[in-house]
Amino acid sequence: MSDFDVLIIGGGAAGLMCALTAGQRGKRVVVIEHADRCGKKILMSGGGRCNFTNTGVTPAQYLSANPHFCKSALARYTPNDFIEMVERHGIAYHEKELGQLFCDESSKQIVRMLLDECEWAGVRIETGCSVESVGQDDAGFNVRTARGMLKAPSLVVACGGLSIPRMGATGFGYQLARQFGHDVLPTRAGLVPLTLSGTHLERLEDLSGLSLPIEARCGKQSFSNAMLITHRGLSGPAILQISSYWREGDALTINLLPGDDIPPLLSQWQTDRRDAQLQTLLGEVLPKRFAQRLTEHWLPNRPMRQFNSPELDHIARTLAAWPIIASGTEGYRTAEVTLGGVDTDGLSSSTMMSKHVPGLYFIGEVVDVTGWLGGYNFQWAWASGRAAGMAA
Ligand code: FDA
Repeated sequence: MSDFDVLIIGGGAAGLMCALTAGQRGKRVVVIEHADRCGKKILMSGGGRCNFTNTGVTPAQYLSANPHFCKSALARYTPNDFIEMVERHGIAYHEKELGQLFCDESSKQIVRMLLDECEWAGVRIETGCSVESVGQDDAGFNVRTARGMLKAPSLVVACGGLSIPRMGATGFGYQLARQFGHDVLPTRAGLVPLTLSGTHLERLEDLSGLSLPIEARCGKQSFSNAMLITHRGLSGPAILQISSYWREGDALTINLLPGDDIPPLLSQWQTDRRDAQLQTLLGEVLPKRFAQRLTEHWLPNRPMRQFNSPELDHIARTLAAWPIIASGTEGYRTAEVTLGGVDTDGLSSSTMMSKHVPGLYFIGEVVDVTGWLGGYNFQWAWASGRAAGMAA
């Protein structure tokens, strides 16, 4: 039996941040990680360079049943706070686009930094250690592990979500939440490629690898960025972003010329390029093979002079809102995040502690707070980990 002040299940982004914070406050902290090493998702993130935060973080970039919940933690641990630690450890970084900060060299540096901070703060880390059961008595929480019983008055659940099971993702955090009487909102894959089926897939699959700038729209939400055609459907940043807002059956439209005012462009073509075929002209503003496919299946292909006004309207509408019928998503196998999770109604937004089980905390992706693509999810992991680490 080993006694600690804070017991953390999950040595990912949120768990390590919580551990180093509580350790720095003089708490005796242990992290239980069932994988053979900590921070596997950090290692694979950002193409191996870890998009560790975003300089433009605001609560508006997070999805949650309660959009206000994330505000307090995000305000008290900002991107600048994390950048300060990155700089203190001499890690070189750069902004790629849209405020997204990446390591110049490797995401290994971020894991090293977190582990060094944990070591300096006296945190004990048990990797390759599985949890068999979690119980509670008057003195606190008892966690039975493959290496014996651990005991602490504070238990932090930082097990992450369901995405990428081969990296160690489990539903264990949700199971613990239910065990202690917390609601878990339905989970689904987010930041995930969309799949197509039937004629839609047949018309596009041989264009796999082709990428173009678009604006993807689902309901009121839209994202402008690249779309990539894959052999199963659609991916690329704009599609990953919109996937978090899309549910099966929802209409999804793509503006294929987001930078252009389409009706005036078509009028101009009708005046200046009267004899040119629509496909030729579209091939000047879109990838040629894509323009060809559009005019084979979605748009008529004739010389511009032959189109009447209703036909031009139809062409403009199709280019501005090309309808996509997604059959589903690639699921947790390739999703970057899990939407839904532990209901924030049962948690304190300033400490992440359970409202009805004192000493029990939930942080990171296991909680029903999910960020956009671009460093927002790590910032939530850091901020929520910090909030719990300051309180536990
Ligand atoms: P995380 O998943 O990091 O950690 C949970 C830990 O708990 C894991 O180490 C797991 O092994 C452990 N665990 C699970 N069950 C357990 C059990 N029963 N017992 C013990 N341990 C257990 N975000 C971002 O902001 N920028 C980016 O560049 C990327 N890139 C990216 C790429 C890919 C491929 C993926 C899959 C995800 C991203 N993300 C991202 C998202 C980001 O990785 C994610 O939001 C955070 O890692 C969440 O941090 P957590 O600590 O909550 O979970």
